[in-house]
Amino acid sequence: MTQQITFYDTTLRDGEQTIGVNFSIEDKVAIAMALEAYGVSAIEAGFPAASQKDFDAVVKIAQTITQAKVVGLARLVRSDIDQAIQATRMAKCPAIHLFIATSPVHRDYKLHMTPDEIIAAITKEVTYARQLVPDVIFSPEDATRTELPFLASAVQAAIAAGATMINIPDTVGYDTPEEYGAVFDYLQAHVAGYERVGWSTHTHNDLGMATANALMGVAHGANEIQGTINGIGERAGNVDVIEAAAALYVRQRAFERQTPIQLPQSKAISDLVAHATHMPVARNKPIVGCNAFAHESGIHQDGYLKHPATYEILKPEMVGAKASLPLGKLSGSHAVMQKLTALGFPVTREMMATIFPTFKQLAEVTDIVSDQQIQAMMQEIFQKEMV
Ligand code: KIV
Ligand code: ZN
Repeated sequence: MTQQITFYDTTLRDGEQTIGVNFSIEDKVAIAMALEAYGVSAIEAGFPAASQKDFDAVVKIAQTITQAKVVGLARLVRSDIDQAIQATRMAKCPAIHLFIATSPVHRDYKLHMTPDEIIAAITKEVTYARQLVPDVIFSPEDATRTELPFLASAVQAAIAAGATMINIPDTVGYDTPEEYGAVFDYLQAHVAGYERVGWSTHTHNDLGMATANALMGVAHGANEIQGTINGIGERAGNVDVIEAAAALYVRQRAFERQTPIQLPQSKAISDLVAHATHMPVARNKPIVGCNAFAHESGIHQDGYLKHPATYEILKPEMVGAKASLPLGKLSGSHAVMQKLTALGFPVTREMMATIFPTFKQLAEVTDIVSDQQIQAMMQEIFQKEMV
């Protein structure tokens, strides 16, 4: 049977690290509820030690969510851990996510810690957390710029101390898909107890490879994808949960994996997050952008009208979107005829011989020809014919 991949959403934590994004507690609760209905299995509700507001939002989400895990983020710092545990305490399925950076640049310049000190901190704090919560996710931050043998030791220490899930962050979106997949292969070969825990991907989009990297992680053994709605997050953002879920659905056979995500809710959840973040999605954004299922050129419109599968790999209804055939300078007579019929002008092919050149003249000087412009054009044509 095809294995199911789960989704861990961090819109409310990593996503909120987007410059200029500041969710209200009400926004956070509404988004968390939409995420649960969308089918994610874990909601990273915030970083409780960061502020009282973050703490309160995590508490509220923990009290509201009934099926998904509610996760609080914490550094390997005792007070962070205690606050994350306290904030998620009321959740039906509480979890905490512990992280510490492992790469040389972070060890030397940010943490001022030696590799041995990092391993000792992992052992001490993961053991502590695991005594108090049944579900502990561990992340070696900047994993993809960490020497592989040290990364394996860090992960090994977390597993030995009781971590239930290991997350591999490509914190600065540096890896190529091949390199990211190879990290999972290496860990599988060098970490004792690899199969005792879950493995997740956490990919950033600095080089536009976040989706490809997440899918490559899955192809190399990860069973969960961490990401955000609309791909919001630090700098260029995180992998977009919607895109990754749609890719697993459309290319199910290629990945031999299924998605539990309720894809028809994609457009609605994207709109909800776009509204709460004041960040409209780009018109050409995959799946949810307004151009994602719009066909403008004559050849594409003609093909689409003969059979939608000519230019669509996914039925728009499947992701809660709608197809459209906007009329512009490259549109063909087939689509113009269809629009005229829809607007109540049932024209014949012969009539199109006069109408289409007039449409073309109009389209040359307009971005998209609106319904009103088409109606005005037809009135003008009729008036000329009556003279
Ligand atoms: O990108 C990152 O490394 C993170 C960690 C906190 C998991 O967001
Ligand atoms: Zn991140």
